[in-house]
Amino acid sequence: MIPSIMSCLGSFTILLLLACWTIAEPVQYCRFGHRTQDASVDFCLGLTTHYNATSNDHDLYLSVQVTRASALGWTAVGTGSMMAGSLMFIIYGDPFSDSKLPPTVSIRTIDGHRQPHVLSSADTGEADLRILQAEWVPGATGGDDISVAKTAVVCYSCEKWPGMPISAKTRSQPWIWAWNNKQKFENYSEDVHLKVHSYHATDGGWGRFYVDMTRSIDQDSSVPSPPPIKPGVAELGASEIPGGWSWMDSIVHVHGWVMAAAFLAVFPAGVIVMRSGSPKSFQLHWILQILASILLLVGVAIGLIRAHKLDSFHHWIGIIVAICSLVQIVLGWRHHVLFVQIRRRQWASYGHIWLGRVSLLLGWTNIITGLLLTGRSFSWIAIALGLVAADAAVLAGWIWVSAHRHKQRPQSEESPLYALQSMRDDYFAVAADDDDESETRFSRDESEPVAISKKDTE
Ligand code: HEM
Ligand SMILES: *[C@@H]1O[C@H](CO)[C@@H](O)[C@H](O)[C@H]1NC(C)=O
Ligand SMILES: *[C@@H]1O[C@H](CO)[C@@H](O)[C@H](O)[C@H]1NC(C)=O
Repeated sequence: MIPSIMSCLGSFTILLLLACWTIAEPVQYCRFGHRTQDASVDFCLGLTTHYNATSNDHDLYLSVQVTRASALGWTAVGTGSMMAGSLMFIIYGDPFSDSKLPPTVSIRTIDGHRQPHVLSSADTGEADLRILQAEWVPGATGGDDISVAKTAVVCYSCEKWPGMPISAKTRSQPWIWAWNNKQKFENYSEDVHLKVHSYHATDGGWGRFYVDMTRSIDQDSSVPSPPPIKPGVAELGASEIPGGWSWMDSIVHVHGWVMAAAFLAVFPAGVIVMRSGSPKSFQLHWILQILASILLLVGVAIGLIRAHKLDSFHHWIGIIVAICSLVQIVLGWRHHVLFVQIRRRQWASYGHIWLGRVSLLLGWTNIITGLLLTGRSFSWIAIALGLVAADAAVLAGWIWVSAHRHKQRPQSEESPLYALQSMRDDYFAVAADDDDESETRFSRDESEPVAISKKDTE
């Protein structure tokens, strides 16, 4: 029965993988000015590029969201590393006016450090631009004081833009942003006069960032559309340092792999050996669980370095699990010492067992929330879900099998089992076999001496 469940899960996972292999990873760059004390620029740019077989070119889909607390000023993003030759998307408008005018998306360019002008067909060359969306949406906080301009634009054959080069195949496409937060507009027409941003990047008036355009390519043959913005994620395949995502991403990867190793391999293995029936089971158990805890703490340390602030479920669950793993060590040790004395499970045993189960579930949950947080594609999430399901099935199966083994084995032949092991039986309710015999069964405890002598010498 167990093997068939497993193979079912396996093929399901593989099918899911094939089904979503083609989904593009998102590319996104955001600055969250309203989260800081003195509000600074606040926008999100999401990108998808799509190969257009008709034109034999790449079409670039942009989602730009600008969070506003007033009608003053403008916010812009542009291609290229400088103003000259940049394809600029400038967004302004009054989110709180009674006229309910949508935000203006003014697409402009310029050849130097001057006021950009609205594009003419002479400027665009063979590229072609359309505004797909422009609307005000109340801020996520629900307050009346914040509104988000949600806009989307498509740039057909965008690599044909005659200004600063735009390429769907570059690993490091420079972009600029700029911001004015003081200008009072007479009207919000697309060619309205714009006042300059602050001159220095250090004043928060403008900045550069770099995007891995290759990651934005959408291989999916279905109708292309602007990418959804992942809320709360500052950089996906984007960085203020050219190529910066590669090492930033690799740090996140190390974090993810370390956590996955701990929760999908080492912690479960520690549970499995506990019930292996081997005389070394207890020793193996604590060695594996300590190893997994070290992995976990290393992973949390990397996560803390990566996270600038603790502001999601993933962070909170992670920290709770890290604390749990420390408590687990204390409880496990406490259980052991008390057990050796009174040969019975006690508060520490129950605590250790239940906290262990909860931690494992939380850890699995956090693998999924972590992948969601980093905006990994559906295929990664499918792999993770498959592995979690496989882990759960293997653990449940193993416990079921070992519980049966106990039942059939005469008591005298039993290898010295450990108290926790019997606890695990009743949890999964597949083996309520050892409750009544627990006192006698643990009267011999040869699996312990290693640990006892270790503790005794301390
Ligand atoms: C049980 C503990 C945890 C598990 C299982 C876990 C797992 C993961 C996974 C699988 C990822 C995705 C990695 C990737 O995409 O390559 C991730 C991302 C991340 N995790 Fe954790 N994590 C845990 C705890 C923490 C803690 C305590 C923090 C920090 C407070 C943290 C911060 C982060 C951050 C910042 C990211 C990346 C998000 C981003 O780059 O925007 N994690 N985590
Ligand atoms: C391909 O590009 C043309 C304009 O160059 C556009 O009209 C058409 O919709 C595009 N095809 C797809 C599938 O987006
Ligand atoms: C909007 O204001 C500008 C001045 O910035 C003016 O030149 C223009 O004519 C106005 N447009 C409309 C439609 O009122």
